[in-house]
Amino acid sequence: MPTLKILVGTMYGGALDVAEQVKPLFEDAGYEVQILDQPGLADITGEDTDLALFCVSTTGSGDFPGNFVPFVRELQDQSPGLPNLRYGLIAMGDSSYGDTFCGAGRRLDEILRDQGATRLDERLEIDAMETFMADDAALPWVEGWISAQNLKVA
Ligand SMILES: Cc1cc2nc3c(=O)[nH]c(=O)nc-3n(C[C@H](O)[C@H](O)[C@H](O)COP(=O)(O)O)c2cc1C
Repeated sequence: MPTLKILVGTMYGGALDVAEQVKPLFEDAGYEVQILDQPGLADITGEDTDLALFCVSTTGSGDFPGNFVPFVRELQDQSPGLPNLRYGLIAMGDSSYGDTFCGAGRRLDEILRDQGATRLDERLEIDAMETFMADDAALPWVEGWISAQNLKVA
């Protein structure tokens, strides 16, 4: 059974909750799912990883949540090149923060692209100003993502 890793960047647990809510959708599609709330670079460079989902919220002024900072540092310091990685990205933020809306997710997307990774489909940006329950946006998006990208393996 292939593995799908969900790498989470969160301050208050909202992005982790989204990861937990979408997990069964991937299990139903035939994946063993690992949710990583203290991710490290090795989680996406191992041989068994060619598909990942990032659930990352933004803090400060467009900053990465603390639990996600070591992962980004490793990625930037080691610049491993990720040509085999295909990924999806759910960015969470709040448009009342203006220019830094979903800043962490957007920055992560740039960093992954610079490493040669391929994003499958557009990034989902969930705006806390518009969507009270992030799951309401994340669940249908993931369902559509699995189907449109032909990710079902079972
Ligand atoms: C102190 C603080 C700073 C924030 N800064 C930003 C920001 O710069 N840009 C943004 O889009 N959202 C910002 N947010 C909103 C959060 O990203 C949003 O509420 C998100 O859903 C929190 O997810 P979490 O529960 O996974 O931490 C901020 C929230 C807090 C409390």
